[in-house]
Amino acid sequence: VASFTIAIDGPAAAGKGTISNAVAAHFGFAHLDTGLLYRAVGRRTLEGADPVSAAQTLTAEDLDQGDLRTAEIAQAASKVAVIPEVRAALVDFQRAFARRAGGAVLDGRDIGTVICPRAEVKLFVTASAEVRAERRFLELDAKGHEVTRSQVLADVRERDARDAERSTAPMKPAEDAVILDTSDLSIDAALARAIEVIEPVL
Ligand code: C5P
Repeated sequence: VASFTIAIDGPAAAGKGTISNAVAAHFGFAHLDTGLLYRAVGRRTLEGADPVSAAQTLTAEDLDQGDLRTAEIAQAASKVAVIPEVRAALVDFQRAFARRAGGAVLDGRDIGTVICPRAEVKLFVTASAEVRAERRFLELDAKGHEVTRSQVLADVRERDARDAERSTAPMKPAEDAVILDTSDLSIDAALARAIEVIEPVL
């Protein structure tokens, strides 16, 4: 394929990351977790940087700065993600990635709506807040982070609200997105369903 874009959006801990990784591996596509861009900006902001300049000068090095998947950095990411100039600074990089030869999977919140409105396939992966919080809790707990279930649920709800209610590029399914609710699905079942949606379009 010359260029083929799969856009995978949805709220935190719905299974987006796992599905995106597996879909990319299955089809031999490149994968960009766009949440990492916002997390890297969030991290620099926690260190005292101005969010807009951090976004404008983001480098590959910022992206592999240790563990960006902490609860603190997630909250900082969703705060900087509200700023239109931060989002604008990250658009070109994401679009160039989407157009690379050989196919690309991008996962985030606004891929199907704003970054790649003409993506060949759009999935919106979701699950109930309770199910997502439980998954995120188990993930953080396994990594040794000191968190409680209720704290993680409150965090997930706060981030959902901020992501869905912001005025620039709010999280929402594109009109032509296929909704994949993973609340009652195993990882394997969710992945099989995603592949079933993508295969006929290829
Ligand atoms: O997906 P992840 O949880 O890593 O994203 C962290 C935060 O980055 C999200 O809560 C959201 O505010 C922001 N984000 C975004 N647009 C994207 C990807 C992530 O606003 N495309």
